[in-house]
Amino acid sequence: MALEIVDLEVGYSREVPILRGVNLCARDGLVTVVIGPNGAGKSTLLRAIYGYLRPSRGDILHEGRSIRGRTPHQMLDEGIALLLQGRSIFPAMTVEENLELGGWTIRRDRARLRQAFEEIYARFPVLKERRHDPAGALSGGQQRMLELARITMTRPRTLLLDEPSVGLMPKLVDEVYEEIAKLKEERFTILMVDQNVKKAIEIADYVYVLNLGENSHHGPVESFRDRLEDIVREWL
Ligand SMILES: Nc1ncnc2c1ncn2[C@@H]1O[C@H](COP(=O)(O)OP(=O)(O)OP(=O)(O)O)[C@@H](O)[C@H]1O
Ligand SMILES: [Mg+2]
Repeated sequence: MALEIVDLEVGYSREVPILRGVNLCARDGLVTVVIGPNGAGKSTLLRAIYGYLRPSRGDILHEGRSIRGRTPHQMLDEGIALLLQGRSIFPAMTVEENLELGGWTIRRDRARLRQAFEEIYARFPVLKERRHDPAGALSGGQQRMLELARITMTRPRTLLLDEPSVGLMPKLVDEVYEEIAKLKEERFTILMVDQNVKKAIEIADYVYVLNLGENSHHGPVESFRDRLEDIVREWL
């Protein structure tokens, strides 16, 4: 098990927990998708795993070790990367400079850094072409590619993706999902949240439904394909 969330209680203040005893596992090399209505606590879950929020109860295990209480800057060393909901590139910096920031923790290891660039540029040829352009000049889809590329510079093993396709037009949504599919082929462990439930389910191996900070249903994706419409209708 790459990631194990045990009875997690966490919120933005002590008095009001947002997640109220959530349990969840992300299996090694598979895609685990968390779905749920707006405000269910999906982003809160990813922020808590990444150390932005302090749990008041429960535990978070990565590859068998508790990472509860670790801070976000320790996460890359832990082999975990997070794609935040919303834009996170530095638009005035070049594409290459944005990638360098992703490789900050390995900056002294020139050989490793060079290899990271080679791998990233092989995977995202368009980023290589545009490497000297300001990141803000990329299209919305390309900016999302850059964000995905940046979080994989240090070769983390576990990726937390919050709304990777939000705000993109359908064609670009497909492109972003093609990239996520490639990451899946490369056996990254992926824990993902997306409003685009249909696309997310296509790529998922295992699905969790969160509602009001609690577990609702969960199971292998096959068990969801027929029930999905009913579940989404329940939220509406
Ligand atoms: N920074 C914050 N401070 C206080 N409360 C917050 C903060 N961020 C989120 N919340 C609250 O926590 C709850 C869960 O929010 P969260 O963003 O985790 O939901 P979500 O499932 O990601 O929703 P969405 O689908 O809209 O992204 C909501 O009630 C929200 O108002
Ligand atoms: Mg969210």
